[in-house]
Amino acid sequence: MPAVTIIIIVALAAGELLLHYMRAPSRRVQATTPAKPPADSLWQAPDSISITDGPEGALVRYGQDLIARTGYYFGPAGTIDRRQNGLDCQNCHLKAGRQPWGNNFGGVASTYPKFKERRGGLESIAQRIADCFQRSLNGEAPDSTSREVRAMIAYMQWLGTGVSKGKKPAGSGIAVLSFMDRAADPEKGKRSYETKCSRCHGPNGEGLKDNNARTYTYPPLWGDNSYNTAAGFFRVARLAGFIRYNMPFGADYRTMELSADEAWDLSAFINSQPRPVRDFPADWPDISLKPVDYPFGPFIDSFPAETHKFGPFLPIMQAHQRH
Ligand code: HEC
Ligand code: HEC
Repeated sequence: MPAVTIIIIVALAAGELLLHYMRAPSRRVQATTPAKPPADSLWQAPDSISITDGPEGALVRYGQDLIARTGYYFGPAGTIDRRQNGLDCQNCHLKAGRQPWGNNFGGVASTYPKFKERRGGLESIAQRIADCFQRSLNGEAPDSTSREVRAMIAYMQWLGTGVSKGKKPAGSGIAVLSFMDRAADPEKGKRSYETKCSRCHGPNGEGLKDNNARTYTYPPLWGDNSYNTAAGFFRVARLAGFIRYNMPFGADYRTMELSADEAWDLSAFINSQPRPVRDFPADWPDISLKPVDYPFGPFIDSFPAETHKFGPFLPIMQAHQRH
């Protein structure tokens, strides 16, 4: 390659980068997850070798298995109970809750029990697990004193080894994306879905059951067997943060394939499709603490439910700040 070509390529690349940084700040209004965080500063799960032999270690291992194969134990053909939709916790808490920015459990042991705005009070790990059973698995939770719930808690506590009390380590949970200055667009999302997602999750979001129908090879994203309207993913910002950092399957925080805008639009599309409706009337006793993307009233502002569902969220944030 002649030197002059190389210089032109380098100059063009530098220009792109500069433009990117010039454009970025105007959109950065909430504290967001950096697009490419330094990988070595993120929380990493402890090594399995540190799970002890004996009864305590056995409980931790059982907890991990319950999280990885929840549908096998609790789904419609479950071996323990059959009051859930067949999803595995791991479908949404990737690698059994170990994946950086994969909705992992790195900050659970250190921060629970904690005050939850949705509950309007302190919440224990057992109660948080029950929340996901009732909302994300659209079912009922096993008793909080059962060996199963104790095992899941033991596993989460083991995952939190070395995280100081009160700290939520970088890379734990779900990434927070900057708000777009427009509403998320289900039509655009539908087009991305068809090219990038439907080959696994199915043209109707129905997923693909595995051979013995106990669990899913590809989990459903909407319809009767998906998370219900009270789940965390029914909030567009939550779903977008997960999708951007983890989908299409195989992408991760180091190799993201979707732009943030694409992730918002995909979430708008997925959350426009039919899914089980479940209402928990006691949620958000103090409505001023509701997140702006929570799509059900009552609201403290006069924006319609549609705006709370898809945005634009900035005007809502600004209206709240004026209060
Ligand atoms: C359909 C997706 C989905 C499934 C399946 C799911 N969860 Fe969750 N879970 C979420 C989302 C989304 C959040 C975060 C909500 C938020 O941050 O607002 C969450 C949060 C949690 C938290 C709190 C994490 C924290 O750092 O505060 C725990 C604990 C948890 N889930 C346990 C479970 C368990 C156990 C199962 C299986 C029985 C499960 N979840 C199944 C989506 C799911
Ligand atoms: C190559 C197959 C594949 C493709 C393509 C793919 N996914 Fe997934 N997706 C998976 C698998 C597998 C899981 C469950 C992960 C696990 O259990 O480890 C998953 C989980 C999910 C979940 C959480 C589980 C749930 O039921 O809600 C969401 C949301 C999701 N994918 C959205 C998307 C979107 C949006 C796209 C397109 C951008 C996409 N996926 C593309 C395979 C795929």
